[in-house]
Amino acid sequence: MSLAAIILAAGRGTRMRSERPKALHRVCGRTMLGHLLAAAGEAGAKKIVVVAGYQSGLVRGEAGSRAVVVRQRRLLGSGHAVRQAAKALPGFRGAVLVLYCDTPLVSSATLGKLIGAYRRNACEAALLSARPEDPAGYGRVEKDGRGFVRRIVEETDAGAAQKALREVNVGCYVFRSEALFAALARVSRNPVKKEYYLTDAVGILAASGKVAAVPVDDTAETLGINTQRDLMTAENLMQQKILDRWIDRGVRLRDPRSTTIDAGVEIGHDTVILPHTVIEDSCVIGKNCVIGPFARIRGGSKIGDGCVIGNFVEVVRSVVGEKTQIKHLSYIGDARIGAGVNVGAGAITANFDGKKKHKTVIKDKAQIGSGTILVAPVTVGRAAKTGAGSVIPKGKNVPAGQVVAGVPARFLGKH
Ligand code: UD1
Ligand code: CA
Repeated sequence: MSLAAIILAAGRGTRMRSERPKALHRVCGRTMLGHLLAAAGEAGAKKIVVVAGYQSGLVRGEAGSRAVVVRQRRLLGSGHAVRQAAKALPGFRGAVLVLYCDTPLVSSATLGKLIGAYRRNACEAALLSARPEDPAGYGRVEKDGRGFVRRIVEETDAGAAQKALREVNVGCYVFRSEALFAALARVSRNPVKKEYYLTDAVGILAASGKVAAVPVDDTAETLGINTQRDLMTAENLMQQKILDRWIDRGVRLRDPRSTTIDAGVEIGHDTVILPHTVIEDSCVIGKNCVIGPFARIRGGSKIGDGCVIGNFVEVVRSVVGEKTQIKHLSYIGDARIGAGVNVGAGAITANFDGKKKHKTVIKDKAQIGSGTILVAPVTVGRAAKTGAGSVIPKGKNVPAGQVVAGVPARFLGKH
């Protein structure tokens, strides 16, 4: 059965007090749009359409090849936004997820549950609902006698009886696509806010068919981000989940409170992460490693099994082979380091010439002396050695088994 997804990301998010579109603020190293693209993909969406408005070029850049981006020129409401996506789904028949970019914590498992309920009950639509401590600001879910949704009443339109309803609309839906676009064509502007509400399409569908409300298991997933404070709350909730996940998989965190691990990281079992360590988006750390204290692993780096990455070491866009040690005060950028290498204290790759970044290659079993500067592009051969404080100029590759020392380094012969 085919599944598509529409992600609404046109809003500016005025209350964030930021020039950046709301969808591009990051939670645990990944933009809110990135989280939703990942969740929709994991839930099985074959085609994803993102509706962009404010700073749409930036949103388009972030979506990249992961989605088709359509533009909503005038921000006339969530219903109007979904209508803009129709042209990117020509002839599509099937289920369509509709997600809001400011609800980034919703998991693919929860979306799976939503889609399951929609299919089981042969619904026109299903939506996620929650019962937060304070329902203020959310649309309230009004039910019919059968326990299905009758309609959603926005806070600004709610009377006292509706405001007393505790069940709220989270902002995650699955619709039968033909029914959705037919209903949207019948939605008129809300008289208070002058916007076309997606929630009014839900009421239209409920009048002729079934709309199920599926309660979320974990209310934390439904947190809507409107302010920097909400973003901080989301960051804390998601960070705790990420840390718990790695602890459950056999990673030892010496001090979870000072450890930052982004979404999209992989870590092998029996790896120990020491305090004040930061591991950023899409890095892969092997098993049996010791990382930190005060280490920073960035930008899709890969650390092999059994490595030691010690205090005040930064690794970025680099691959490090197994059982390699980089124990103190190093900067390793754009490097490919082999297995069984020792990088001495304070050794660095000078990877940036002011215009371009260049690569450093260090082959297996090489020993890089303390304070060595490797001016990229440069290669240090297998089992070669560099003396303490040596500077290896760019292109002066060190052949396998050779020892070099000095500033700039001179050949001293074979070791
Ligand atoms: C919406 C729901 C409300 C729900 C709440 C959950 C509607 C009418 N109401 O309210 O029932 O409880 O979310 O957080 O949908 N957007 C566009 N284009 C527009 C307007 C909005 O793309 O013209 C996007 C926004 O970027 C956002 C989403 O739609 O991602 C929701 O819009 P927002 O204005 O935040 O709706 P809420 O008032 O929070
Ligand atoms: Ca909102």
